[in-house]
Amino acid sequence: MIIAQLSDIHANGSKDRLERLDRVLAWLRPMRPDAIIVSGDLAEDDFADSYRAVLKRLRDMETLFRVVPGNVDDHGRLADVFGGEMGWTGTRPLHSSGVAGGALRLIGLDVTVPGQHHGDATPALDWLAEELQRDALPVLVFQHQHPFLCGIDGKDQNRCHGSEGLGAVLSQAGSRVLGITCGHVHRPMFARLGDIPASMAPSVTRASRLSLDGKASDIVDPPGLLLHHVQDGRLVSHVVMVGER
Ligand SMILES: [Fe+2]
Repeated sequence: MIIAQLSDIHANGSKDRLERLDRVLAWLRPMRPDAIIVSGDLAEDDFADSYRAVLKRLRDMETLFRVVPGNVDDHGRLADVFGGEMGWTGTRPLHSSGVAGGALRLIGLDVTVPGQHHGDATPALDWLAEELQRDALPVLVFQHQHPFLCGIDGKDQNRCHGSEGLGAVLSQAGSRVLGITCGHVHRPMFARLGDIPASMAPSVTRASRLSLDGKASDIVDPPGLLLHHVQDGRLVSHVVMVGER
Protein backbone atom coordinates (compact mmCIF):
# COMPACT_ATOMS: atom_id res chain seq x y z
CA MET A 1 0.00 0.00 0.00
CA ILE A 2 1.35 3.39 -0.99
CA ILE A 3 0.24 6.64 0.62
CA ALA A 4 1.66 9.78 -0.98
CA GLN A 5 2.00 12.85 1.23
CA LEU A 6 2.13 16.30 -0.29
CA SER A 7 2.49 19.39 1.84
CA ASP A 8 2.71 23.16 1.71
CA ILE A 9 1.66 23.82 -1.87
CA HIS A 10 1.10 27.54 -1.07
CA ALA A 11 -0.85 28.14 -4.29
CA ASN A 12 -1.33 31.88 -4.77
CA GLY A 13 -2.66 32.47 -8.26
CA SER A 14 0.80 32.37 -9.86
CA LYS A 15 1.76 29.80 -12.48
CA ASP A 16 4.95 28.87 -10.66
CA ARG A 17 3.29 27.36 -7.59
CA LEU A 18 0.99 25.12 -9.63
CA GLU A 19 3.83 24.11 -11.95
CA ARG A 20 5.72 22.78 -8.93
CA LEU A 21 2.61 20.81 -7.91
CA ASP A 22 2.27 19.48 -11.45
CA ARG A 23 5.90 18.28 -11.42
CA VAL A 24 5.33 16.38 -8.17
CA LEU A 25 2.08 14.82 -9.41
CA ALA A 26 3.67 13.86 -12.74
CA TRP A 27 6.35 11.96 -10.84
CA LEU A 28 3.73 10.37 -8.59
CA ARG A 29 1.29 9.20 -11.27
CA PRO A 30 3.12 5.97 -12.28
CA MET A 31 3.29 4.96 -8.57
CA ARG A 32 -0.54 4.76 -8.55
CA PRO A 33 -0.84 5.57 -4.82
CA ASP A 34 -3.71 4.05 -2.80
CA ALA A 35 -4.30 7.50 -1.33
CA ILE A 36 -2.90 11.02 -1.28
CA ILE A 37 -2.79 13.09 1.91
CA VAL A 38 -2.07 16.82 1.91
CA SER A 39 -0.79 18.13 5.23
CA GLY A 40 -1.88 21.74 5.01
CA ASP A 41 -1.05 25.13 3.52
CA LEU A 42 -2.66 24.27 0.19
CA ALA A 43 -2.98 27.99 -0.64
CA GLU A 44 -1.80 31.34 0.66
CA ASP A 45 -3.62 33.76 -1.66
CA ASP A 46 -6.29 33.85 -4.39
CA PHE A 47 -7.90 31.18 -2.24
CA ALA A 48 -11.06 30.12 -4.07
CA ASP A 49 -9.35 29.70 -7.45
CA SER A 50 -6.27 28.13 -5.86
CA TYR A 51 -8.32 25.51 -4.00
CA ARG A 52 -10.28 24.72 -7.15
CA ALA A 53 -7.00 24.27 -9.08
CA VAL A 54 -5.59 21.94 -6.40
CA LEU A 55 -8.85 19.99 -6.13
CA LYS A 56 -8.97 19.44 -9.89
CA ARG A 57 -5.43 18.09 -9.87
CA LEU A 58 -6.13 15.75 -6.93
CA ARG A 59 -9.30 14.44 -8.60
CA ASP A 60 -7.34 13.82 -11.79
CA MET A 61 -5.12 11.39 -9.82
CA GLU A 62 -8.17 9.08 -9.54
CA THR A 63 -7.41 7.90 -6.03
CA LEU A 64 -8.66 8.66 -2.51
CA PHE A 65 -7.37 11.96 -1.15
CA ARG A 66 -7.65 13.66 2.23
CA VAL A 67 -6.50 17.15 3.21
CA VAL A 68 -6.16 19.20 6.40
CA PRO A 69 -5.70 22.96 6.68
CA GLY A 70 -2.51 24.76 7.63
CA ASN A 71 -1.88 28.12 9.24
CA VAL A 72 -2.01 30.12 6.00
CA ASP A 73 -5.13 28.40 4.63
CA ASP A 74 -8.53 30.11 4.55
CA HIS A 75 -10.84 27.71 6.39
CA GLY A 76 -14.02 29.14 4.91
CA ARG A 77 -12.91 28.91 1.31
CA LEU A 78 -11.19 25.55 1.84
CA ALA A 79 -14.43 24.16 3.31
CA ASP A 80 -16.41 25.61 0.38
CA VAL A 81 -14.28 23.88 -2.22
CA PHE A 82 -13.28 20.64 -0.46
CA GLY A 83 -16.25 20.19 1.89
CA GLY A 84 -18.13 17.76 -0.34
CA GLU A 85 -15.12 15.46 -0.73
CA MET A 86 -14.06 15.64 2.93
CA GLY A 87 -17.51 15.50 4.49
CA TRP A 88 -17.08 18.87 6.18
CA THR A 89 -20.27 20.61 7.24
CA GLY A 90 -18.75 23.64 9.01
CA THR A 91 -15.52 25.61 8.82
CA ARG A 92 -13.74 24.62 12.09
CA PRO A 93 -12.32 22.21 12.87
CA LEU A 94 -11.61 20.67 9.47
CA HIS A 95 -10.55 17.17 10.50
CA SER A 96 -10.64 14.40 7.92
CA SER A 97 -10.65 10.63 7.94
CA GLY A 98 -10.67 7.87 5.36
CA VAL A 99 -9.67 4.28 4.70
CA ALA A 100 -7.13 3.49 2.00
CA GLY A 101 -7.46 0.15 0.26
CA GLY A 102 -9.75 -1.17 2.99
CA ALA A 103 -6.67 -1.65 5.16
CA LEU A 104 -5.27 1.63 6.54
CA ARG A 105 -7.11 4.42 8.30
CA LEU A 106 -5.88 7.92 7.50
CA ILE A 107 -6.73 10.43 10.22
CA GLY A 108 -6.18 14.10 9.43
CA LEU A 109 -6.16 16.46 12.41
CA ASP A 110 -6.91 20.16 12.08
CA VAL A 111 -4.57 21.54 14.74
CA THR A 112 -4.60 25.13 13.46
CA VAL A 113 -5.34 28.03 15.81
CA PRO A 114 -7.21 31.02 14.31
CA GLY A 115 -4.82 33.88 13.51
CA GLN A 116 -1.74 32.03 14.77
CA HIS A 117 1.15 30.26 13.09
CA HIS A 118 1.55 27.68 15.83
CA GLY A 119 -0.90 24.81 16.24
CA ASP A 120 -2.60 23.16 19.21
CA ALA A 121 -3.65 19.52 19.28
CA THR A 122 -5.54 19.75 22.57
CA PRO A 123 -8.96 20.70 21.14
CA ALA A 124 -8.68 17.80 18.65
CA LEU A 125 -7.96 15.04 21.15
CA ASP A 126 -11.54 13.95 21.94
CA TRP A 127 -12.35 13.63 18.24
CA LEU A 128 -9.08 11.75 17.67
CA ALA A 129 -9.77 9.30 20.51
CA GLU A 130 -13.21 8.53 19.04
CA GLU A 131 -11.82 8.14 15.56
CA LEU A 132 -9.18 5.70 16.79
CA GLN A 133 -11.96 3.50 18.19
CA ARG A 134 -13.93 3.25 14.95
CA ASP A 135 -12.19 0.05 13.90
CA ALA A 136 -9.03 -1.97 14.48
CA LEU A 137 -7.20 -0.90 11.32
CA PRO A 138 -3.63 0.38 11.37
CA VAL A 139 -3.55 4.17 11.39
CA LEU A 140 -1.48 6.96 9.88
CA VAL A 141 -2.15 10.38 11.42
CA PHE A 142 -1.39 13.61 9.60
CA GLN A 143 -1.61 17.28 10.55
CA HIS A 144 0.03 20.58 9.63
CA GLN A 145 2.25 21.83 12.46
CA HIS A 146 5.01 19.61 13.85
CA PRO A 147 4.24 17.92 17.19
CA PHE A 148 7.96 17.50 17.95
CA LEU A 149 10.82 19.92 18.53
CA CYS A 150 12.48 20.20 15.13
CA GLY A 151 15.54 22.07 16.34
CA ILE A 152 15.72 24.35 13.28
CA ASP A 153 16.58 27.87 14.38
CA GLY A 154 13.40 29.90 14.96
CA LYS A 155 10.96 27.20 13.84
CA ASP A 156 9.90 25.64 17.11
CA GLN A 157 7.94 28.67 18.29
CA ASN A 158 5.41 27.72 15.60
CA ARG A 159 5.15 24.02 16.47
CA CYS A 160 1.97 22.19 17.48
CA HIS A 161 1.27 22.68 21.17
CA GLY A 162 -0.37 19.94 23.25
CA SER A 163 1.95 17.28 21.85
CA GLU A 164 2.18 15.39 25.17
CA GLY A 165 -1.57 14.87 25.21
CA LEU A 166 -1.50 13.95 21.54
CA GLY A 167 1.22 11.38 22.15
CA ALA A 168 -0.74 9.93 25.07
CA VAL A 169 -3.92 9.47 23.02
CA LEU A 170 -1.97 7.84 20.18
CA SER A 171 -0.04 5.58 22.56
CA GLN A 172 -3.33 4.28 24.00
CA ALA A 173 -4.10 2.85 20.56
CA GLY A 174 -0.82 0.90 20.74
CA SER A 175 1.15 -0.37 17.78
CA ARG A 176 -1.80 0.16 15.42
CA VAL A 177 -0.58 3.74 15.08
CA LEU A 178 2.15 3.40 12.49
CA GLY A 179 3.18 7.03 12.59
CA ILE A 180 2.28 10.69 12.66
CA THR A 181 3.36 13.01 9.89
CA CYS A 182 3.13 16.74 9.20
CA GLY A 183 4.35 19.64 7.09
CA HIS A 184 4.77 23.35 7.92
CA VAL A 185 8.56 23.82 8.13
CA HIS A 186 9.14 23.04 4.42
CA ARG A 187 11.82 20.43 5.04
CA PRO A 188 11.77 16.61 5.26
CA MET A 189 12.48 15.40 8.80
CA PHE A 190 12.25 12.27 10.94
CA ALA A 191 11.77 12.34 14.69
CA ARG A 192 9.57 10.76 17.37
CA LEU A 193 6.48 11.68 19.34
CA GLY A 194 6.96 9.54 22.43
CA ASP A 195 7.03 5.98 21.10
CA ILE A 196 5.55 6.94 17.75
CA PRO A 197 7.62 7.59 14.63
CA ALA A 198 7.07 11.16 13.45
CA SER A 199 7.94 12.68 10.10
CA MET A 200 7.62 15.88 8.12
CA ALA A 201 7.15 16.02 4.35
CA PRO A 202 9.20 18.29 2.11
CA SER A 203 7.25 21.19 0.66
CA VAL A 204 5.87 21.51 -2.83
CA THR A 205 6.61 25.24 -2.65
CA ARG A 206 10.09 26.62 -1.95
CA ALA A 207 11.96 24.89 0.88
CA SER A 208 13.05 26.79 3.96
CA ARG A 209 16.66 27.22 4.94
CA LEU A 210 18.22 24.50 7.06
CA SER A 211 19.67 26.51 9.93
CA LEU A 212 20.98 24.50 12.88
CA ASP A 213 22.85 25.91 15.88
CA GLY A 214 23.25 29.22 14.07
CA LYS A 215 24.84 27.56 11.01
CA ALA A 216 23.12 27.57 7.62
CA SER A 217 23.76 26.89 3.96
CA ASP A 218 21.93 27.71 0.73
CA ILE A 219 18.43 26.59 -0.18
CA VAL A 220 18.88 24.12 -3.03
CA ASP A 221 15.94 21.77 -2.51
CA PRO A 222 13.51 21.11 -5.35
CA PRO A 223 9.84 20.31 -4.61
CA GLY A 224 9.26 16.92 -3.05
CA LEU A 225 6.93 14.50 -1.28
CA LEU A 226 6.91 11.57 1.11
CA LEU A 227 5.84 8.14 -0.03
CA HIS A 228 4.61 6.06 2.90
CA HIS A 229 4.89 2.37 2.04
CA VAL A 230 2.91 0.04 4.31
CA GLN A 231 3.55 -3.68 4.03
CA ASP A 232 2.65 -6.39 6.58
CA GLY A 233 1.95 -3.71 9.19
CA ARG A 234 5.32 -2.02 8.73
CA LEU A 235 5.71 1.58 7.60
CA VAL A 236 8.71 2.77 5.60
CA SER A 237 8.63 6.41 4.49
CA HIS A 238 10.54 7.40 1.38
CA VAL A 239 11.66 10.96 0.60
CA VAL A 240 11.39 11.89 -3.07
CA MET A 241 12.70 15.20 -4.34
CA VAL A 242 11.46 16.06 -7.82
CA GLY A 243 14.38 18.00 -9.29
CA GLU A 244 15.59 18.59 -12.82
CA ARG A 245 17.38 15.64 -14.38
FE1 LIG B 1 2.54 26.29 7.69
